[in-house]
Amino acid sequence: MRPLDAGRRRRRSLTVTSPRAEASLSVPDILPSCRHEFPGGTVLVCPRPEAELLAASRIADLVRSRTVEGGRVVLGLATGSTPIAVYDHLAAWHEAGQLSFGRVTTYNLDEYYPMSPADPRSYRAFMDRHLFHRVNLAANQTHLLDGTVPAAHTGEHCHDFERWIAADGGLDLQLLGLGRNGHIGFNEPADLPTDQALALPTRVVALHPTTRADAMKDFGAEANVPHHALTMGIAAILAARSILVLAFGSGKADAVAQSLVGPISARVPGSLLQTVSSQVTWLVDPAAASRLF
Ligand code: GLP
Repeated sequence: MRPLDAGRRRRRSLTVTSPRAEASLSVPDILPSCRHEFPGGTVLVCPRPEAELLAASRIADLVRSRTVEGGRVVLGLATGSTPIAVYDHLAAWHEAGQLSFGRVTTYNLDEYYPMSPADPRSYRAFMDRHLFHRVNLAANQTHLLDGTVPAAHTGEHCHDFERWIAADGGLDLQLLGLGRNGHIGFNEPADLPTDQALALPTRVVALHPTTRADAMKDFGAEANVPHHALTMGIAAILAARSILVLAFGSGKADAVAQSLVGPISARVPGSLLQTVSSQVTWLVDPAAASRLF
């Protein structure tokens, strides 16, 4: 695979290949019909496997182009079921000797609170399983908010997390999923003036009932789902130089439509992405896009 500068070329000619895919996927062929511009950003509507491959390719291209120049890359990563295949592609390219993470630093969006990193349900364990332990990312290259920090020190820890990102030069690319209720990271819907929502810092949050219900599959029963989490704030997410949002399935259709064409409001945190729309690309499947048209 040849390195591409994804930021420069993504709108015109992104060529995507995968060691798992026999043939390469040529986006110019599908772009005219699948690419749309909305207030919330550029939206590519394509079948989920293509969207996953495009997202992975965009990340790999960024990593390769910077590495060739001797630079470093800072990635913001997400958990949930949505990005799993993206991590599979990245791991496969690494295993095939086509992608190195040696000059990559990562910061994850969120973590349950309280939560031990040794707990298999923690987001640290999720990331180790799906990406970190499958590629050349050493522990000191990867950063998640720490679910074991004493309650009295979470504020300080969250502040430090933001300082570390800034000290590393800021996020080059933030990968985002979308909650069914429109949340990004664990920034839940809130009754807040928009300017205050846009400034929300990295912090402890109470999880929304919809979010806890959705997390039940990982915890066996709703009673086992933590009531709180640590999340990167809205301000830190929007500060990323580019943002790639993934949403798949009809369960996300309302949240996608409200985020992309609804009013900018803290009630739908995904809609806050409209304020930085030139940095945002959405990759959605037809089911998730079904309320957009
Ligand atoms: C969790 C994560 C979010 C993620 C969301 C969607 O709440 N904290 O970052 O976007 O789930 O989950 P899924 O991808 O499983 O639909």
